[in-house]
Order: sequence, then structure tokens, then C-alpha cells
Amino acid sequence: MIRPGQGWTSDGAEIQVALLAPGASGQEQAEALRAIGAEANRRDAGLPAARRPVRIGTLPAKVEFTAAYEKVPEELRRPLWGLLGLGGDDVAPVGVDFAGSSPTFVVAGPPGSGRSTTLAGLAVSLLASGTRLVVLTPRESPLRALNGHPGVRLLTAQSPTAPELAAAVGSGNEPRVVLVDDADLLILPEIDQDLRALVESGRDRGVGVVAGVTGETMAGAMGWLSALKRHRRGVLLAPPECDGGRHPGRPAHPGSAAQPQTGPGPDSRPALREADQRADTSDRSRLTAAGVLQAPAAHSVSHWSKSAS
Ligand SMILES: Nc1ncnc2c1ncn2[C@@H]1O[C@H](COP(=O)(O)OP(=O)(O)O)[C@@H](O)[C@H]1O
Ligand SMILES: [Mg+2]
Repeated sequence: MIRPGQGWTSDGAEIQVALLAPGASGQEQAEALRAIGAEANRRDAGLPAARRPVRIGTLPAKVEFTAAYEKVPEELRRPLWGLLGLGGDDVAPVGVDFAGSSPTFVVAGPPGSGRSTTLAGLAVSLLASGTRLVVLTPRESPLRALNGHPGVRLLTAQSPTAPELAAAVGSGNEPRVVLVDDADLLILPEIDQDLRALVESGRDRGVGVVAGVTGETMAGAMGWLSALKRHRRGVLLAPPECDGGRHPGRPAHPGSAAQPQTGPGPDSRPALREADQRADTSDRSRLTAAGVLQAPAAHSVSHWSKSAS
């Protein structure tokens, strides 16, 4: 008769699996494991953080801007750094550094996925740390609420003219970010070249560029959007894969995101880089922005590459 816990290893040794504590039921063993964890916590309470095991935090299903912004460390509260949300293993602030190696960012996703909300959070955090904004909203957008803010120039036309854009951006070197919501809806033969120039060399003038678009538009991007796409920086909200079999019962919802980043930048914290490079589907590769996430990075990154190449 074969006893519970009895087994044979592949090299032929017969073994009896050890119990963590008396009492063989699953419940008793789980309780023993909890007790061991509690004891280890107590014993190692004084250990410096670097010597402690990596802790994987639980992402909140929803997070308020102020709660997320409170966690932004002092050194990131500077011009050209904007907050996206919380994410990574330690559920820390994840943001965009427009002063980094690539001063552009794309917020891609289907309608209703939270693109305008993501841009609004970025906008508020950029303004909070002294970045001026040029906001283009070719259609109704929560960003229009920024109208009248002293740090904001708002252009609501579907076809802004070159002089309008130039005047809004200005000629100085102070940090600015051009935010375009619903970039797919801009009708822009006239300012296409100017936006492209900002994407390609705005950095020299302290100008960052971020656009909210649909994934389809990015897949077939033309004109200035294709220049933006080449920088390969952005966040993909509600990737379609999230609706499918990988997370049954956990459909993608607004604000859920994966942040693909190719090539490390000053703003890509180690956890993000690592997750991208490994591109596995373990828990460690979960990334988030703007609140929530349940996209396995590998999936979203391959999705992104598909649409970005
Ligand atoms: N980060 C978020 N957390 C929770 N709910 C969100 C978030 N972003 C968006 N939503 C919800 O989704 C709706 C659509 O968001 P919106 O930003 O307008 O999407 P889009 O611009 O992509 O069409 C919002 O009205 C809000 O209810
Ligand atoms: Mg929108």
C-alpha cells in the first residue's frame, strides 16, 4: 500500500515528504506555514530592507490620484516628470520622465479604456512640479477642464494652425509638454511637420510630447504619429488579451494597463526593465499604470510590438 506523502524521485529513491507540523490535513499544514512566516517576520524584523526577501505587493483595484502622488519621492517631483499610476512588485509610483532619453510617450487603448484619464493624471502631476502644458483636444475631453490654468495653453480646434501651435509652445527653453488627446482625430496637414519636429528634437528645447490614441491608429501610424511610434515609449491600456482566457473572470477595465518600454531609460525602474526583458508571465511581470492592471507583460509587450512595428 502506498502511504500519503510517499513518493519516488526520478532517480529511483523512495521518499516520505516531511510535514511542517503534526496534523496532515491541508488546513493544519497551511496554518503551520503561516506560523513559520509569522515567526520569520518576528525574528527578522531588524534586518535591513536589502537583505529581506523581495515582497510582491498587491495592486489596488482603484487608486485616487492624491494617494498615488503622495508616494512620489521628492527627487521625482521635478519638471518633466509625470505620474501614471502605481505598479511594479512594490506597487510604487510609475511615471514618465520627459527629461529622459526619449521625451515622448504614447497612451494607447480602445475608446473608454482610460486614455483621457491617464493624460489628465499626467497633466496634473506635470503642472504640480512646474511643467507648462500645451493641450490639444480635437474633441470633448476631461483635459479641457484645464482651460484657464495659468500653466496651460489649450487648443480645441480639430485643425490647429501652425502659428497657433507655435505661439502655444513658445520659444523659450522652459520645460513644457505637449499633450494631445484623441490624436487620431486631429486633422493636421498644417501642423504635422511641426509636431514631428517636436517629437524628433523637442528634447533640445525642453519640450516633451504625449499623445492619446487608439491602438489601431498606432498600428498604422502615419506622419508625426509614426515618428512618435519610433520612440517606442508608452502605455497600453486594456490590452485586448486581457479580455480573453488568461484571466477569466477578470476582464480588463478602465485604467488597467501594461507599460511596454524598450531600452532602459532613467525613468524605468529596475522592476520594470527586468519584467520587460524576461517577458515572462509570472506575477513579477505585472505592471500597472493609472490604477490597475492585470496584463501579463509578455502578452502586452508582444501586442505592443505587433502594433508598433
Ligand atoms: N484609472 C482609472 N481608474 C478607474 N476608472 C477609470 C480610470 N480611467 C478611466 N476610468 C473610467 O473609464 C471611463 C472612460 O475613461 P476615459 O479616460 O474617458 O477613456 P478614453 O479617453 O480612453 O475614452 C471614465 O469615465 C472612468 O469612469
Ligand atoms: Mg478620451
